[in-house]
Amino acid sequence: MTDTPKLSHNETIKTKSRFLRGTLEEGLAEAATGAISEDDQQLIKFHGIYLQDDRDLRPERAKRKLDKAYSFMARLRVPGGVLSAAQYLAMNKLADERGNGTLRLTTRQSIQFHGVIKTNLKPALRQIDSVLLDTIAACGDVNRNVMCTPNEFAGPVYAQAEQSARDISTHLLPRSGAWREVFIDGEKVTAEPEAEPIYGATYLPRKFKIAIAVPPQNDVDVFAHDLSYIAIVEKNAVIGYNVVIGGGMGATHGDAETFPRVGDVIGYCSVDNAVAVAEAVLTAQRDFGNRSNRRRARLKYTIVDRGLDWFVEQVNARLAVKLEPARPFKFTDNGDRMGWHKGPDGLSHLTLFVENGRLADVGDWRLKSALVAIAQMHDVSFIITPNQNLIIARADAQAVAKIEAVLAEHGVPLRGSVLREAAMACVALPTCGLALAESERYLPSLITKLDALLAEHGLDKQPVTVRMTGCPNGCARPYISEIGFVGRNPGKYNLHLGGAADGSRLNRIFREDADEAEILTTLSPMFADYAKNRRAEEGFGDFVTRTKII
Ligand code: HEM
Ligand code: SF4
Repeated sequence: MTDTPKLSHNETIKTKSRFLRGTLEEGLAEAATGAISEDDQQLIKFHGIYLQDDRDLRPERAKRKLDKAYSFMARLRVPGGVLSAAQYLAMNKLADERGNGTLRLTTRQSIQFHGVIKTNLKPALRQIDSVLLDTIAACGDVNRNVMCTPNEFAGPVYAQAEQSARDISTHLLPRSGAWREVFIDGEKVTAEPEAEPIYGATYLPRKFKIAIAVPPQNDVDVFAHDLSYIAIVEKNAVIGYNVVIGGGMGATHGDAETFPRVGDVIGYCSVDNAVAVAEAVLTAQRDFGNRSNRRRARLKYTIVDRGLDWFVEQVNARLAVKLEPARPFKFTDNGDRMGWHKGPDGLSHLTLFVENGRLADVGDWRLKSALVAIAQMHDVSFIITPNQNLIIARADAQAVAKIEAVLAEHGVPLRGSVLREAAMACVALPTCGLALAESERYLPSLITKLDALLAEHGLDKQPVTVRMTGCPNGCARPYISEIGFVGRNPGKYNLHLGGAADGSRLNRIFREDADEAEILTTLSPMFADYAKNRRAEEGFGDFVTRTKII
């Protein structure tokens, strides 16, 4: 008898998958259903794809004894979120021809396409490949899209950080040729499945997320990822990075074994050593992470279970050049730099407000059409921000005037209210199979009400981070916002309060299962108190923490 815990079923799926192939080829060719087998649903995530169904249609289809309305969601891998105008136009076309006609900017600087039916999946991925983009490792138990404070055109420091993001992303890409073989050209890459020098045949115990921040902005939320880098800048150049490990947002309602956690700063590395550090942290987690219980499989639990110092020793043992002591750094906030900004080369960059990352034409607000017109007119770049907004980068003076005119013609405001610009919601209903409550479709109307409450107390110019998710998985990083809403039941949310404005402290649950009326009656007196009794520059999250409201 052995007391080694049994491996989770996902481990068997990976082991048998022949480096992520499984029976995807056969499953995608099967015309009798819009779905694929359960095991392949786990595997296809490694290729950036989820099987979903339209949850709005579930009751009606069940009544008529029909299959669920299946479709796929495909997520791009875009380190740092940078797309050329030509790539953007291709992605817009793809959304129209193969998806649900919208593009969804994500909280990790990617784009998701929803509503891609099975017969459209390969054509969609070929369109993505044709403009030198891919969806490899955008989901699954691998390193995901690497985030970075945008924008590389705003100055040399940002360009250096973006380069590190791309280097790390490339180095940690799975080497399996399965993505190309299954979705793009059908050609077997090798007779025998190839090796995975970094991951091995069973990849990681769970997903792995990396982000790079350029202070004073903490827009990427460095404390929320498995591994993050904080750029240390001297004389307008990045000289190295502080390394942060063990952050993570996901939790399960009612399961005390799972919890969100902010990462720990464990040291400093040179720019040249950043890729090696990523490999060392990732492989230590590969070797010691929990492969029996997926709910406890993220790096944060490995660190909690075995100790931070022990884990750092494992990392250093894998490094030729060890980590040095961390250097001083200071963050001011975790929002985006909204509006127009000029770079050192004289070109201008607009961070445009996009409500919850959804690029669509809605009534008179014809954002999607406006972006197409801009991309067709100018060789600008489009950069997805970590707060689901969009930077239109590299505009000369002539372009600036034209961009403003196009946006005005299409009824697109450059800015939202201070609250709305910083607010984030995850996708949730109708596509996300895990959603317990609305998020993207509900937050805008709640923000209108919160904006009115704040205005009553003269707080409408005060930045406050509000984030909402439809379940406790925490895809919009709600546990480090000043006000967080985590869906529990339809129309009911756990209200979290007290995160720091710079993203460095977790908030805490203040009310469980609150509906809108309770949310508003709870927050109203707090806003009044805050307006009267706050200290200079004190954020709402700091205020409720200092005054022991939470
Ligand atoms: C156990 C934990 C998690 C599970 C099972 C999970 C699952 C999912 C699913 C199914 C979706 C697709 C929703 C849709 O597009 O319909 C999604 C979206 C997303 N998730 Fe997660 N997620 C988890 C945790 C997280 C965390 C902690 C983060 C980041 C802090 C994150 C980041 C994202 C992002 C960026 C998206 C894209 C849409 C958006 O911006 O909201 N996820 N996740
Ligand atoms: S937080 Fe939950 S509901 Fe929202 S996208 Fe993530 S998994 Fe879905």
